[in-house]
Amino acid sequence: MTKPLTKDDYTPGGVTVHRDPERLRRVTRALRSAGRNIALVPTMGALHEGHRRLIREAHVLQNTVVVVSVFVNPTQFGEAADLERYPRDLDADVEVCRQERAPLVFAPEVATMYPAGSQVTLDPGPLGSELEGASRPGHFAGVLTVVSKLFNVVQPDYALFGEKDYQQLSLIGRMATDLNVPTAVVGVPTVRESDGLALSSRNRFLSESERESATALSAALVAGSHVSALGAEAVLSTARATLDAVPGLDLDYLELRAPDLGPAPVNGDARLLVAARVGSTRLIDNVPVLLGAGDE
Ligand code: PAF
Repeated sequence: MTKPLTKDDYTPGGVTVHRDPERLRRVTRALRSAGRNIALVPTMGALHEGHRRLIREAHVLQNTVVVVSVFVNPTQFGEAADLERYPRDLDADVEVCRQERAPLVFAPEVATMYPAGSQVTLDPGPLGSELEGASRPGHFAGVLTVVSKLFNVVQPDYALFGEKDYQQLSLIGRMATDLNVPTAVVGVPTVRESDGLALSSRNRFLSESERESATALSAALVAGSHVSALGAEAVLSTARATLDAVPGLDLDYLELRAPDLGPAPVNGDARLLVAARVGSTRLIDNVPVLLGAGDE
């Protein structure tokens, strides 16, 4: 028989921070038995407006209890320095969850998620070494492994991810399909500053002048998408011209792909993706484009 939940497990209207996976799994299982849907918003903390949007979208799904995980996952970082400087402030994150009415936070220790001796990881397949994966070897194996662990702990009906990390969203969707994971993976549109810059926890590392250069990423995507009726070459050369005009921006890739990140079609739905380093900060962005629509 399942033990009834106490207010230390779950308090509607409050926020309970869970550190122990077994206990949280018991809580979400009891809530599901009581007829609730569980919506997971996986994060690495430093919650901003983009995460708030994910939580709000989770509330829109039917009859959900929202669980936010806050875990800076070491296995998805290449450089130790990048992991070290990643912002951490659990109290501030819990306050955001309180404001957004997310009653359950999962904030495990690294040693809980990766006890000594853990060895098995997920292989993202060929897409895992393209685009982001080409300059961040092992990154998506780390992402998929931790997301799969979070799914196993929380056993969510829904999991929400931002479209800003479009390749991550695609690979997680693919993982759910390929591995028969009974969780619906939901993508949520990117939240932007008023000048177009996509919200990211990394934006805080930009100096004032770098912050200005960084707007070139979204500006290039918009400029490219405006000429999408003319086809792929026009999109890429227009976007590239915007990026080339900005000093101090070190372009990693600018690519057009199909929505599933396979080769771009000549006509129809596609995704325009960019990654660049501005100073020491690596930024990514992407937008949907409709190629060749003007030719129809
Ligand atoms: O997008 C993120 O914040 C992370 O990659 C995720 C999905 C929480 C896995 O650590």
